[in-house]
Amino acid sequence: GLPKRYSNLEELEADAQPLLTPQAYGYYAGGSDNEWTLVENKAALGRYRLLPRVLVDVSSVDMSTTLLGQRLASPILFAPMAQQRLCHPDGELAMARAAASTGLPYILSTMATSSIQEVAEAVAQAPAGGWPSDPTLWFQIYVLKRRDVTEVMIREVERLGYKALIVTVDAPRLGHREADEKNKYSLPPHLSMKNLELITKAAATTEGVATEGSKFGRHFSDLFDQRLTWEFLPWLKKASKLPVLLKGILSPDDARKAVELGADGIIISNHGGRQLNYSPAAVDMLPAIAEAVQGRVPLLVDGGITRGTDVIKCLALGASAVLVGRPLLWALTLGGQKGVEEAMDLLHYELELSMALLGCSSVDQITRDFVIQPPGYPL
Ligand code: FNR
Repeated sequence: GLPKRYSNLEELEADAQPLLTPQAYGYYAGGSDNEWTLVENKAALGRYRLLPRVLVDVSSVDMSTTLLGQRLASPILFAPMAQQRLCHPDGELAMARAAASTGLPYILSTMATSSIQEVAEAVAQAPAGGWPSDPTLWFQIYVLKRRDVTEVMIREVERLGYKALIVTVDAPRLGHREADEKNKYSLPPHLSMKNLELITKAAATTEGVATEGSKFGRHFSDLFDQRLTWEFLPWLKKASKLPVLLKGILSPDDARKAVELGADGIIISNHGGRQLNYSPAAVDMLPAIAEAVQGRVPLLVDGGITRGTDVIKCLALGASAVLVGRPLLWALTLGGQKGVEEAMDLLHYELELSMALLGCSSVDQITRDFVIQPPGYPL
């Protein structure tokens, strides 16, 4: 577990950093260009105010919620993040087990250092952890140039019981991560991106994609389809029965278009400030996207969420759930599966307490009435 008692998730990073190589820390912590958007993600959340209502019975506060038909312990998901074995030898396996035992969905990245199958097996073996429903695994997919190879990945995900596909649409190319460039970041030779092995096997190419993390950016552009347009969405909806969520949408018009073309959900995100710098914080676009989408599909949000009150702000502005990214990597580094579980306990403690202080005893009571929006943002 975590090496000491922490009061909140924001305290983890400083202690995790010395345990990581400068390359790994830079890769995890960094954003693109001058990192304006990375900083803005936290700043934006800080600008909203919560307006409590008093004299409400909050003797029992229920954080649980339903998302895509799945009962969750709280409206919090584990964001897809590449290469988690850099934090801890058990990497994605530990992270996914922690999600299962806390009753939250784990989203496995295409760029993971554990395979689709390894993660499914790890979760199947995990003790129930007190949460009644089955573990929820989702898969984050990059649509590849080779649609037939993309389908191989989809079939594997379906076969192993993953429950949704998250298509990341904000990364036709990788953002300019200056820290990675300075550090000559590369995946150490004992690790590999396991799903790329599946992909390359399927594509019958022998290029060293799986092990040569040093050429991460180049491989990314080799494999992923930079000509991808909206046409892929009807294609994907036909190729799989799984719900499809698009991750990395910021424009209300794109959100409307996604829904019209069959998306089952939208993840409003700037990729943790790692793609287009000076793109806005997801939370600032949430009200306008909620207006555009009119409740037709669930909206999820990520970027800079570390506090129970951050979760509440997103829900109040129209999100059904949030994703948490980097804080989980710090927890994994510090304490493996147990560390992540303890970190999630901290976040859940804050969420439950803040709901009580806000005057909400269940998640669906958290409406726009409870948040004061800063001026100057689109409605
Ligand atoms: C990411 N993110 C990401 N997103 C995705 O769709 N596929 C991926 O493989 C990755 N990989 C990845 C690696 C690392 C190290 C980070 C930090 C992030 C983005 C991630 O899913 C999420 O959008 C942000 O991390 C959320 O912001 P916070 O919570 O980290 O501030």
